[in-house]
Amino acid sequence: MNKPPSFLFVCLGNICRSPLAEGIFLHLNEIHKKNFIIDSAGTASYHVGEPPDPRTVRQALGRGIDLRNLRARQFKPNDFLKFDHIFVMDKSNLRNVLTLASCDADASKVSLLLDHYPECGLREVPDPYYGGPEGFEEVFDLVYGACERIFKKHL
Ligand code: 4NP
Repeated sequence: MNKPPSFLFVCLGNICRSPLAEGIFLHLNEIHKKNFIIDSAGTASYHVGEPPDPRTVRQALGRGIDLRNLRARQFKPNDFLKFDHIFVMDKSNLRNVLTLASCDADASKVSLLLDHYPECGLREVPDPYYGGPEGFEEVFDLVYGACERIFKKHL
């Protein structure tokens, strides 16, 4: 049996954007009866061990996706060995992750999530942490659109 493809989503805190991407991918995995390997991480350690931000949890639950069992962890160099694809939310995450790459093969696994959703017109998922509730809705729509497109490529 071939190993299923593996996907890691990365943001700064691992409590807003990347757990949302993980939850959406897990949801698509269930709908399509796949056994993809799916995880998320943050480049920073501020929120390690915490569940996703309540505003993200509420937004996702309203759209049928339950993030309450997820817990934040920090991205580590070993993730380059464990994952085939690493999607980052913004250019700052991209720099931080690429700093930890030890070879071209590591670096080639990393891309901006929204580069897989060019129709949205953005390259970075805005950080909703310091903004209002509308930011969380925008983030949901951007992340969902990108995840759907990426997932379909692997069906
Ligand atoms: P995330 O959002 O990177 O999408 O999880 C943030 C979460 C926490 C902080 C910043 C962004 N913070 O500064 O604590």
